[in-house]
Amino acid sequence: MTFTITPAKRLQTLPEQFFAALVAKANARAATGRDVINLGQGNPDLPTPSTIVDRLKNAAENPKYHKYPPFRGFPFLKEAVVQRYKEDYGVDLNPETEVAVLFGGKSGLIEISQCLLNPGDTCLVPDPGYPDYWSGVALAGAEMAFMPLREEKEFLPDYDAISSSDLERAKLMFLNYPNNPTSAVANAEFYEQTVAFAKKNGIVVASDFAYGAIGFDGNRPISFLETPGAKEVGIEFYTLSKTYNMAGWRVGFALGNPEIVEMINLIQDHMYCSLFGGIQEAASEALTGPQQSVRELVSIYESRRNALYEALDEIGWKANKPAGSFFCWLPVPEGHTSMSFADLLLEKADVVVAPGSGFGAHGEGYVRLGLLTTEDRLREVAARIGRLGLF
Ligand SMILES: Cc1ncc(COP(=O)(O)O)c(C=O)c1O
Repeated sequence: MTFTITPAKRLQTLPEQFFAALVAKANARAATGRDVINLGQGNPDLPTPSTIVDRLKNAAENPKYHKYPPFRGFPFLKEAVVQRYKEDYGVDLNPETEVAVLFGGKSGLIEISQCLLNPGDTCLVPDPGYPDYWSGVALAGAEMAFMPLREEKEFLPDYDAISSSDLERAKLMFLNYPNNPTSAVANAEFYEQTVAFAKKNGIVVASDFAYGAIGFDGNRPISFLETPGAKEVGIEFYTLSKTYNMAGWRVGFALGNPEIVEMINLIQDHMYCSLFGGIQEAASEALTGPQQSVRELVSIYESRRNALYEALDEIGWKANKPAGSFFCWLPVPEGHTSMSFADLLLEKADVVVAPGSGFGAHGEGYVRLGLLTTEDRLREVAARIGRLGLF
């Protein structure tokens, strides 16, 4: 008799990993020896600042860290993120009750759905949006109601357009500013409306602040937690991945509402035993050490943005410049879908971009480009696209 292994139904509910297919296509093209420029992903290209790396090197030798770390992380790391939030956003947080340490923002984004959603509940999700939200909601057996992000509304959701039945069933909502993929930023007024909306409808707000450090033209993105009443209704996810080029280190935080922080800590008590202590020490160095590297990083992304948009303007591809994050959200030329245009760019220009439809139905009509290579390579992207004569 053959031995059959049947996956749990839960696995079948997971959404298709859209971007895995994109990576495979790009790799297949590059394997043929072509000079492919990949702007399709969101992996920071620059190294972690050396002060942080050095701190890990030293910390790796500390026998204290060779043992199990405290389940919920070392207090010094929680104090470090509290200090950063105070200095950068003027937000007060209690390191003991209002901070959960995460294996990167991604794990918290999945866990929050496990903590708050029962099968049959609804979660409000931005469309277009970061696909990890969908995964968490699917694993919880809950439903999604999409909040369209439209260019004419500055890519902010329109709460008045949400149906009363969705409002009744919704228990959680995700927001993400600076936004992936549209690169929009939120303002204080929008967050004030969000707190009022959340209170009125009993919906918990999960603010994904992964690109919180990256704002252009002298504008610093604001944290949702700066809003009066925010802590009562929600939580913010912060990560070191983008701010300090530490995507491989897997350090993130859930910050804010103490009841939700406790739920996340509880679920994590059953799943993990926190991060390697040496990484926690290096992460606290990142948060409490000099922040010059962050300012330099933002200015590098801003220069890259300016170089790319100047070159795109020259070839006739017109779009608004990103206000934050390291993504560019560009309209596709007439006669194309986002997918057909992305395929064309790969086949005819050896350029990888992410088709907007991968982020949701309202991403159709756009492609996303990451500012994650040098200015020269970005100009080369524009030149290659320009030679196709599409604009
Ligand atoms: C919008 C958004 N949220 C969260 C994350 C997760 O980041 P990490 O798990 O590295 O902290 C990313 C990563 O690309 C992202 O784009």
